[in-house]
Amino acid sequence: MTKQNPYQAARLILWIAVVALAAGLLGYRIVSVTRPAPAASAADVGGPFTLTAHTGARVTEADFRGRPMLVFFGFTYCPDVCPLTLQKLSIALDALDADGDAFQPIMISVDPERDTPEALAAYVDSNGFPDQLIGLTGSLDEIRAAAKAYRVHFEKSEDPDSTASYTVDHTSIIYLMDDEGRFVKPFTHAQTPAQIAEGLRTYLNERGRGAG
Ligand code: NI
Repeated sequence: MTKQNPYQAARLILWIAVVALAAGLLGYRIVSVTRPAPAASAADVGGPFTLTAHTGARVTEADFRGRPMLVFFGFTYCPDVCPLTLQKLSIALDALDADGDAFQPIMISVDPERDTPEALAAYVDSNGFPDQLIGLTGSLDEIRAAAKAYRVHFEKSEDPDSTASYTVDHTSIIYLMDDEGRFVKPFTHAQTPAQIAEGLRTYLNERGRGAG
């Protein structure tokens, strides 16, 4: 009777493990590939911009690499949606405690006429807004280029009811962009701070797993 070589047995077990692992990875890959892709337009959100920060410094999107951005387009004279959105974002970031510091909230002005760096500096300091909020403005062409990159629409309109003479209608989506400036997911002011916090938490967990 031949006695089985212990090395052969060990090799057989090793091979079974390798095959099982390969099958598992293949299965995972198939699931990943067949998962519905985000809308084609979503993948194109974001891109290069050159603007002026509320500090007066000229900045580009490359200055924000290494930190996920929360990009929002708005303006300081906005009576409702902008302040509401920024307040919700602030509550959501606070709910994440120290993890909230991972994100860089940015408001890009759609009203460069009135939103000078000085006006933005006062605005980003408002009570109830995200602590590290950065305001960006620029020439109308620079703003237009940034808005185009982010698929944001904005349009000046006369507002006889307002003391401010005109208002600016604009897309009010918060875009979560990853460390490399790539689009991750949008948030809207219709969401609760808890929902926004949940979405940000999910992103941090996924990013943690990806990096680990
Ligand atoms: Ni607004």
